Amino acid sequence: MPESAVARAAISLIGMPGSGKSTVGRHVAKHLGLPFIDSDQVIERRIGCSIRDYFETQGEAAFRNVEQAVIDEVTQLGGHVVATGGGAVLREANRGALHSRTTVVYLRSTPEDLARRLRHDNHRPLLQGSTDPLHRLRALYQERDPLYRRTAHFVIETGRPSVHTLVNMVLMQLELAGLVPVATEPRAPHP
Ligand code: S3P
Repeated sequence: MPESAVARAAISLIGMPGSGKSTVGRHVAKHLGLPFIDSDQVIERRIGCSIRDYFETQGEAAFRNVEQAVIDEVTQLGGHVVATGGGAVLREANRGALHSRTTVVYLRSTPEDLARRLRHDNHRPLLQGSTDPLHRLRALYQERDPLYRRTAHFVIETGRPSVHTLVNMVLMQLELAGLVPVATEPRAPHP
């Protein structure tokens, strides 16, 4: 497969907060030699404050409007790996843009695993103030898992493997689908 095929590959990662989209996405991008974009970081640059503060002052709907504009832009770039926010799949327009313009990988985690990973987190507005984060995560998961599945081309079960293993699972899936060239040597973990 010509290298230019990788250069055109547009890959996006979706999944619940704490599923590892940004970490895995950054490593996958490095392995493929593609630029990485975290759509939440693009949003924060645009709104000029943290997403958490924006939620508090402007409300969720205003945040979703900015998110939709950013998803629309970043999915048109091609040749990038994009990590999205956990709620990006809530709007149909985002699901359509992601699915039709990029190869979408859903990093699926159970609410139990997510609760364990997010137990010290105080950045995610939808989990703040909840006395029972696991209950909240279960509700979010129930609503969103069907949307993630509908949007994704591939589902990767994250379980509890290392980042390196997860990155390899994503790369192997992309290779099997013929979307990126097959690695000829074992992949060393990227720094
Ligand atoms: C959100 C997830 C966040 C961020 C915003 C809303 C959500 O991204 O976009 O706080 O609705 O689940 P992460 O998935 O990176 O936490």
